Amino acid sequence: MKPLLHPSSFLFFSVMLLMIFIINIPTCMCNDYTDCNEAFECGSSSITNLKYPFWGNNREERCGSVSDPNMELTCEESVPKITINDVKYRILEWDNTTQKLTVARDDYWGGICTVSVSVSDKPNNSTFESADQFQPYGSVSSQLNLLYNCDTTVLNVVYSANCGGNIEVVYTLSDPRSLSLTCNLSVIIAIPISVTRITNLDDINEALQGGFDLRWMGNYADCQRCVDSGGACGNNGTEFRCFCNDGAYTDICGSRKAPTSSM
Ligand SMILES: *[C@@H]1O[C@H](CO)[C@@H](O)[C@H](O)[C@H]1NC(C)=O
Ligand SMILES: *[C@@H]1O[C@H](CO)[C@@H](O)[C@H](O)[C@H]1NC(C)=O
Ligand SMILES: *[C@@H]1O[C@H](CO)[C@@H](O)[C@H](O)[C@H]1NC(C)=O
Ligand SMILES: *[C@@H]1O[C@H](CO)[C@@H](O)[C@H](O)[C@H]1NC(C)=O
Ligand SMILES: *[C@@H]1O[C@H](CO)[C@@H](O)[C@H](O)[C@H]1NC(C)=O
Repeated sequence: MKPLLHPSSFLFFSVMLLMIFIINIPTCMCNDYTDCNEAFECGSSSITNLKYPFWGNNREERCGSVSDPNMELTCEESVPKITINDVKYRILEWDNTTQKLTVARDDYWGGICTVSVSVSDKPNNSTFESADQFQPYGSVSSQLNLLYNCDTTVLNVVYSANCGGNIEVVYTLSDPRSLSLTCNLSVIIAIPISVTRITNLDDINEALQGGFDLRWMGNYADCQRCVDSGGACGNNGTEFRCFCNDGAYTDICGSRKAPTSSM
């Protein structure tokens, strides 16, 4: 009877297996550097540069910014999303040099009529004064005020969208409190929109999808220095960390090793 495997080929396979094992050791010992150096993965999204200060999905919390626990991203149908003050936004762009994050309301992405608001609903704030980590970027953003249950026989600064049935959404860039509207002003959804991207408010859905710009207020300079030294940015739960090939540093690779007890 012929052996299934010739002894020499058995040896060959053994050596191959050993080689594969040895070669694989570094990638299996998944370390902070390789983990945090990977950008946020989100299907076929064209946004592939979401690293520090963001975390979520394939990026563990230690790869994000420690001062911003709300920097967790989610990936839904290849769209990276961030939730700020309980409102979910789609991330349209991230520019790590200017720290500019362009976002659009997720709930209004399908159009102004996709959100139904009843009089008893509390309007969700989307002004960014209250969010520490994000501020409006520049002065180009303006508030789009959506007014529900409003009388539409109003001034020409107000536009309206018919959502079918008796549902009409009235919207304006003006401060609704300054207008004499017979609306229940307790139901106003205020959405920042970038006025530079609006040519015509008649196409409100385009304006909503254009989104608006926020600036991340955190310290990115520390991270850039870390990256320039060959590291990947992250944190140990309470402090910034620069993860390098040979371990965690407090500042940049090759500077002061972070205390190992902390990790
Ligand atoms: C406001 O936010 C809450 C929590 O995310 C949500 O359940 C509610 O539907 C939102 N309301 C409106 C009017 O968007
Ligand atoms: C306006 O909305 C509030 C709840 O946000 C409600 O209590 C009040 O009755 C409403 N007023 C009118 C005139 O519909
Ligand atoms: C929205 O934010 C403003 C200013 O930060 C605050 O005065 C108001 O109470 C907030 N409204 C709600 C419904 O949270
Ligand atoms: C910012 O993005 C540029 C271009 O993608 C990249 O070269 C640079 O390393 C990034 N900076 C950080 C800190 O990730
Ligand atoms: C992070 O490191 C600092 C000092 O290096 C230490 O005081 C702190 O306890 C560490 N945090 C955690 C969560 O281990």
